[in-house]
Amino acid sequence: MDDVTDTVFRQIVASCAPPDLCFSEFVNVEGLNSPGRSRIIRKLDHQQSEPPLVAHIWGINPDNFYVIADQLASGRIADELGLQTNFYGIDLNMGCPVRQVVKSGACSALINNHRLAKDIIDAVSAGATGRLPLSVKTRLGVDAVDPEWTRFLFNQNLSMLSIHLRTVKELSLVPAHYQELERIVAERNEIAPATLVVANGDIVSRADGEALADRYGLDGIMIGRGVFQDPYVFAAQSPWLATNEKQRIELFSRHLELFKQWSKNPNKGTARMNKYAKIYINGFNGAKELRERIAEAKSIKQMLQVLNNRLTNL
Ligand SMILES: Cc1cc2nc3c(=O)[nH]c(=O)nc-3n(C[C@H](O)[C@H](O)[C@H](O)COP(=O)(O)O)c2cc1C
Repeated sequence: MDDVTDTVFRQIVASCAPPDLCFSEFVNVEGLNSPGRSRIIRKLDHQQSEPPLVAHIWGINPDNFYVIADQLASGRIADELGLQTNFYGIDLNMGCPVRQVVKSGACSALINNHRLAKDIIDAVSAGATGRLPLSVKTRLGVDAVDPEWTRFLFNQNLSMLSIHLRTVKELSLVPAHYQELERIVAERNEIAPATLVVANGDIVSRADGEALADRYGLDGIMIGRGVFQDPYVFAAQSPWLATNEKQRIELFSRHLELFKQWSKNPNKGTARMNKYAKIYINGFNGAKELRERIAEAKSIKQMLQVLNNRLTNL
């Protein structure tokens, strides 16, 4: 998830209960192929303590996709970042509904532009030349469920298709349409038995996801916003509800410490870190007031001091 699942947050989630696989924030191939590369490449940073990482990319120009797929598959990007392990795969964003992105013709706009979608998939396949598996993350359709779209994708020789079970128009405003999974899995079985199908949308626990996978014969489940309610969401049985104020504050402090070590400019990160506060500073008396004090802090160091003061007064 963009601006959320960076390496630091993934390390925290992995320390609670690791998923089998993580996806990076989405990274724009045009940006990676421009002088602005150094500003965005760290979205692909990754530590050994995390689960394997799939590079999640987006853009509009197949030539740029080709170059970046080659750089991902050859290990050049991993080397540039000093990673010990290369990426696990390449995932193409064909589902983001953000207006500005769609206006450019990228992401979910590709659902109505099979020709460009195919050119992009072909460019990434050619760039990666079998060295990394290729997957797509998408939605059910633009204004309505569009079976032609999933059929088209199953004809593209993908290793995996992750499908957020809503249309673009629906954003996240209606419940996920799980009933569509029956058709999608049947299409996969008919057209592309080797393509893994992963369902996404409204899954808030591993157990719920596994039940969904059993019910529809899925190969996997993807959890997004569930981490906001429960950093242990990937655990078979999450202990989160039973954690106390001290444990929650300590987990947030660890997140802030890791961010401080990782960030090139940690004091510019207070707004970003405040977005995470609600995950941890929640579910105990005085949580709201504590979050307000954290929000007033002018640096990560001050945020940590606020948390430390609270811990010593517990
Ligand atoms: C803050 C935020 C950022 C997101 N960024 C991305 C992204 O970069 N790429 C993507 O494919 N989906 C992105 N999504 C969508 C989620 O991956 C997921 O498809 C959606 O939230 C539904 O699943 P969930 O109910 O498990 O959250 C984002 C969602 C949120 C809330």
